[in-house]
Amino acid sequence: MNKNIANKYPKEVINLLEKMTLDEKVGQLYQAPFFSDIVTGHEYNSSETIKRIKKGLVGSILNIHNEEMLLKLQKTAVEDSRLGIPLIFCFDIVHGYKTAFPINLALSNSWDCDLIKRVSTAVAYETAHRGIHLTFSPMVDLVRDPRWGRVMESNGEDPYLSSILAKAYVEGYQQNDLSNPNSIAACSKHFIGYGQSEAGRDYNTVDMSKRVLYNMYLPPFISTIKSEVSMIMTSFNTIFDRPSTANKQLLKGLLRDELGFKGSIISDYTSTEEIINHKVAKDIKDAAYQCFDAGLDIEMVSETYINHLKDLIEEGAIKENDLDESVLRILKLKFDLGLLDNPYSYFYENSNQYILNDLTKSLSKEAAEKSMVLLKNDNILPLETSQKILLCGPMIDSQDVIGEWSAMADKKDVTSILSAFSSSDTLIITTDDSKESVSSADVVVMALGELGNEAGEGNSKTNLYLKQEQTDYFEKIYSYNKNIVVVIFAGRPLIITKFDKLAKAVLYAYQPGLEAGPAIKSLLMAESIPSGKITMTFPYHEGQIPIYYNHYQTGRPFDFSRPKYRYNTRYQDCQNEPLYPFGYGLSYATFKYENLSIDKQTLNKYDKLLVTIDCTNQSSFAAEEIIQLYIEALTFSVARPVNELKAYKKIMLKPKEKQTIQFELSVNDFRSYNLDMIHTAENHKYKIKVGPNSKTLYEAIVNVIDE
Ligand code: NOJ
Repeated sequence: MNKNIANKYPKEVINLLEKMTLDEKVGQLYQAPFFSDIVTGHEYNSSETIKRIKKGLVGSILNIHNEEMLLKLQKTAVEDSRLGIPLIFCFDIVHGYKTAFPINLALSNSWDCDLIKRVSTAVAYETAHRGIHLTFSPMVDLVRDPRWGRVMESNGEDPYLSSILAKAYVEGYQQNDLSNPNSIAACSKHFIGYGQSEAGRDYNTVDMSKRVLYNMYLPPFISTIKSEVSMIMTSFNTIFDRPSTANKQLLKGLLRDELGFKGSIISDYTSTEEIINHKVAKDIKDAAYQCFDAGLDIEMVSETYINHLKDLIEEGAIKENDLDESVLRILKLKFDLGLLDNPYSYFYENSNQYILNDLTKSLSKEAAEKSMVLLKNDNILPLETSQKILLCGPMIDSQDVIGEWSAMADKKDVTSILSAFSSSDTLIITTDDSKESVSSADVVVMALGELGNEAGEGNSKTNLYLKQEQTDYFEKIYSYNKNIVVVIFAGRPLIITKFDKLAKAVLYAYQPGLEAGPAIKSLLMAESIPSGKITMTFPYHEGQIPIYYNHYQTGRPFDFSRPKYRYNTRYQDCQNEPLYPFGYGLSYATFKYENLSIDKQTLNKYDKLLVTIDCTNQSSFAAEEIIQLYIEALTFSVARPVNELKAYKKIMLKPKEKQTIQFELSVNDFRSYNLDMIHTAENHKYKIKVGPNSKTLYEAIVNVIDE
């Protein structure tokens, strides 16, 4: 073996490789299915899996969770196969194993790395105690189109925020030490561009410039690579006109050579053989060749590798040295996880004691409180204990609020809004929605929304309005009483313009997990104060989609002083502005921003720019505020977004407290890929903008010199 390769891996792993036959090597690159209830595509027969494990032809297993079965499979691999190499068990633990936390899009509204790290640490703990070694999370695709069902798994539309949160996930799962019995390996996905699926239709074509890819879609992946994520999954889509699973320019070129990613690259579910449908491979063998040649290590579920890699090597189309490297990567992961020392270390007696306890429940409640966003409040919230509260709406007692990819979580463990309110004996509540009862209530709390399975993989939608019967119900109740607080459960931003207009308050709850009811009650009663801010723009109308804050300026921007002028970037029948902009969210407190200042007019390459602003809590609530800093390039060699988030701070302000907030920026924060694909700020003027969301901003101008 090549010395350079051998030096990169532990000697245990090299020794193992040296004993392996060609078949066994190929086997390590096969991730087999095993009679799972979670099948997200063409179902492969698992009946061969045990036989294959015995022959040493399986490296890892997808999505099984029954511990007895896991143990049986591991025993088969260790005791009945020639070399006894243990399996890696992989499972999509996306926002909780047994304890369902809010969906990831909701979690991102917290802008809170510490919270996300605590959540993913708790998730890893439960998962690692149930025999699972690796999660297919975090999903770090940027999203701009709420028709796409998978926006629920993402960190929203911003590359900077998504990068920061991606790091928190990886650190929480892996804890910088895969041999730690409480940690699991992470896999960031889907490389790359999947969030830009055309028209929001799942698995669809993606088309973007290399510059957009580098500026927008790549940073979150880089962040996971820097955090030493163990694995990266390719996406289903084509990009630069090639399926990413067989895209050499992206896998070998970008991931390996340019970014230095050392972990394994895995396909998505059957995305290898799907390159035949994409019409870039003529048959299964050709698909195996093209994916491997592009740099793909592991194939998920489908069988192009196990059926053809050996032949391809014997025919000389693929070099055995390259196969060896792919095998070494997976063996190294097994080594790092401690499996080569003890293949059974993730199995526990009475493992129920490690999952779903009071601590994880209270973390789930805290996460839900910090994930929901108060979108409107016309002086109706918080509720008071003396008020007569009417609880109604189709989702008021719903437990279907944990969302997709909820692993082993059980809806039966969810506390609904109704149960949470009913458990309080100090509140006067009713659920009688007759005209008489509604009219006599002080406040109506109405829960509406999407069901769990309306978002997630394969759940693209063209109609983003709430169901007609929900709107009709709202209108009926509204005709009896105007004091309505609407709580909306959803996996994506829906079109809620009507509710924004008519309801007195709107609390967007997303899919908040197990503690939905208690968290909502706590926010409505001001036991905790809303602090979430949206990470995905809410359209005013479906026809505006895709709509996102970091768009380019056009040559004919909309002119607010001449709204009717025709030859501008505008709609004939709808405003340009979204219903709520990125970064927006209310609190019960009001915050005053003033005195934005910068400490220099010109920022040079080795300097720091200090940006300060005063923020005062004008209310009597102690509350958190997320203060956001954006930049705008006033000139550049290529078009750049009107606003780019570059920093933020989440701070707690006591009643009436004023704090001076300081941000430190360097030239790097102003850089972007320019006309020549150089990452530079060039030498230009930039606006610095600070405020509570991407629309309400205070500005200063700085000259940046990057040379
Ligand atoms: C398909 C999904 O795209 C991916 O995110 C998931 O990890 C795999 N199926 C495995 O379930």
